[in-house]
Amino acid sequence: YDYDLLVVGSANADLVIGVERRPGAGETVLGSDLAVHPGGKGANQAVAAARLGARTALLARVGDDEHGRLLLDSLREAGADTVGVLVGGVPTGVALITVDPSGDNSIVVSPGANGRLTPSDVRAAASLFHASRVVSTQLEIPLETVVEVVRSLAPDSRFVLNPSPPRPLPSEVLAACDPLIVNEHEAKVILGDSAGVSDAPEDWARLLLAKGPRSVVVTLGGEGALVVSSAGVTRVPSVKVEAVDTTGAGDAFTAALAWRLGTGEPLADAAAYAARVGAATVTKEGAQVSFPTAEEVAAL
Ligand code: RIB
Ligand code: NA
Repeated sequence: YDYDLLVVGSANADLVIGVERRPGAGETVLGSDLAVHPGGKGANQAVAAARLGARTALLARVGDDEHGRLLLDSLREAGADTVGVLVGGVPTGVALITVDPSGDNSIVVSPGANGRLTPSDVRAAASLFHASRVVSTQLEIPLETVVEVVRSLAPDSRFVLNPSPPRPLPSEVLAACDPLIVNEHEAKVILGDSAGVSDAPEDWARLLLAKGPRSVVVTLGGEGALVVSSAGVTRVPSVKVEAVDTTGAGDAFTAALAWRLGTGEPLADAAAYAARVGAATVTKEGAQVSFPTAEEVAAL
């Protein structure tokens, strides 16, 4: 394989303002100076993996504009291959992000060019799929494009999905996931009515596995993560850090896990490493600009 990881997904310019508290409807609050950072769940995964040392390519769409150049620069600087980044037509996606004093964020995404990443773009990138050991994606691109990704996987490659932002998924997509990576909110949306009344993450994890994925990882923030497969449930501990900005932590977690799985590491060990990568990112502002190198993860 030429690539450890092929990421198919979104690239956004993140317009970030720090706030004391979020405004309610009809309300105005004053915040910090504006920061413009490279983001988007797909580009975030690609930068995270490349910075850790994985040979990584991104299949995505950006506009022929300043935001698109910001994203291409960030990918190249991290060492990700941008041969699959299609440029032009529509403006680059934008995410309006507020971050509160606890480091939690609220995000509104305007998909822009991400919404134009089509199934035929995926088919045209067949050579990337054949060259990649692991393929990962998220849901900031059209669902029919995600379906085409699943149909384009090389016979021996592995598929990892973080369904964010969440929506119900066709069984064809669920069955390809190894693993499906969800937080509590995403788990409940994917499960829909079958989420039932249980509050125990172990219960949702088992219900999710019954929907078809070969494995499931449920991330629990400060409580670590649960890894579930036919072999049973394993709890992965969290790494305690002071949170400054959680934006992109889930993307870095997914990318690190996908990369380590491709090296043959067992799922629980890959998830434990990914938890350390995620923890390192929340200690700094921004998404891609906060992602660690392998040396920084080792030092944590
Ligand atoms: O997951 C974090 C990302 O979500 C941000 O970088 C933003 O662009 C949105 O896509
Ligand atoms: Na961060």
